[in-house]
Amino acid sequence: MTQASYRIDEMISARAIAARIESLAREIERHFADTDKLVVIGLLRGSFVFIADLVRKLDLPVEVDFLEVSSYGNAMHSSREVRILKDLRGEIAGRDVLVVEDIVDTGHTLQHVMGFLHQRGPERLETIALLDKPSRREVDIRATWTGFEIPDAFVVGYGIDYAQKNRNLPHIGKVIAL
Ligand code: IMP
Repeated sequence: MTQASYRIDEMISARAIAARIESLAREIERHFADTDKLVVIGLLRGSFVFIADLVRKLDLPVEVDFLEVSSYGNAMHSSREVRILKDLRGEIAGRDVLVVEDIVDTGHTLQHVMGFLHQRGPERLETIALLDKPSRREVDIRATWTGFEIPDAFVVGYGIDYAQKNRNLPHIGKVIAL
């Protein structure tokens, strides 16, 4: 697919995303009701919109941190290699942690990140993914909470890019080759 020739069809509206985040926030609050400080870790860059909306719906004491892992570059296919490009600023040993991911696709990224964070000895380590493509999974992993399960399509918007474009769309759209 050449990057010049595609259109984007709406798949999940901004309103549907907001409603789903509201109910996910209530589940997360129940799960971490007894925490004195939750560390919410966004995986850059795709989760930046999701984490911003999610934390503002959480009635919990939270800290926010970010981890950057290597992405697909400009390709639409997953490279199996996952590298840490930017580490956390804070400590997570003995802390309650929620990792915020945009999409779980093959599962390699989340599996790698979970292994990496586990080594630092958090008290609890949970995950939330806005989108899940279960039909694409190559490793046996799933997020604790998922916003929406979607079919095998390449999507953009709400923080998620195609070749660094379209992150600013307010909804999730499907990329259609022309
Ligand atoms: P995984 O390691 O294959 O699970 O890939 C996870 C990462 O790939 C996500 O965090 C996204 O950055 C990227 N990704 C997977 N599917 C898509 C997509 O449909 N559009 C844009 N990025 C995607």
